[in-house]
Amino acid sequence: MSFDRSIKIAPSILSADFANFGLECEAIEAEGADWVHVDVMDGHFVPNITFGPSTCKAIRPHVKGVMDVHLMIAPVDPYIEAFAEAGADVISAHIEAGPHIHRTVQAIRAAGAKAGVALNPGTPAESVEYLLDMVDLICVMTVNPGFGGQKFIHSQVEKVRKLRAMIGDRPIHIEIDGGVTPETAPLVVKAGADVLVAGSAVFKGGSVQNPAPYGENIRAIRAAVS
Ligand code: DX5
Ligand code: ZN
Repeated sequence: MSFDRSIKIAPSILSADFANFGLECEAIEAEGADWVHVDVMDGHFVPNITFGPSTCKAIRPHVKGVMDVHLMIAPVDPYIEAFAEAGADVISAHIEAGPHIHRTVQAIRAAGAKAGVALNPGTPAESVEYLLDMVDLICVMTVNPGFGGQKFIHSQVEKVRKLRAMIGDRPIHIEIDGGVTPETAPLVVKAGADVLVAGSAVFKGGSVQNPAPYGENIRAIRAAVS
């Protein structure tokens, strides 16, 4: 996985048909997705439950590109190895999920994955200051994590701008997660983001039987930021 700052659209399979994950991943990639974003929720750190490493492993053969795993779980450390073995290219952990994010980031890299750190809307940009030389991605949550289809929180655009300045020349992606649409995407791209997670805005109107809307939705976001 090489580093570049071009805009990447990462559909979240939280909005896919859960009975058809493999085909859904193939459909979004065929329709122009750059990364596949996988939302893991534990019903404890966030008020919703999705799936774990075995589902990631089952999905892996159906994803040609980057499998981007967003862990909304606490604790995180006991599960890192399992997600890396399941084939995650990027593993992001929440800074709020425990007292030892520095150790968690080390463990993610030691397991062979790129390390991401995710920030809830109430968590300041400065909280990652001492992690900048060891992370590959910072995920800025633009909704409170747990559910798809929520409204974009505009105050986070300023946080993206701050993070972009803090990152400087370091090879760190800024990922935006939550409420990304053709209307909100330009705000965060202008502020410095390069990975756009989008669940409902990509999957709306389509299905594995009728995947063309996925392509139209992805192109609409891409067009809005180019
Ligand atoms: C929220 C998840 C997101 C979510 C985004 O907790 O981390 O990835 O699926 O969904 P939309 O794009 O519908 O806001
Ligand atoms: Zn996510």
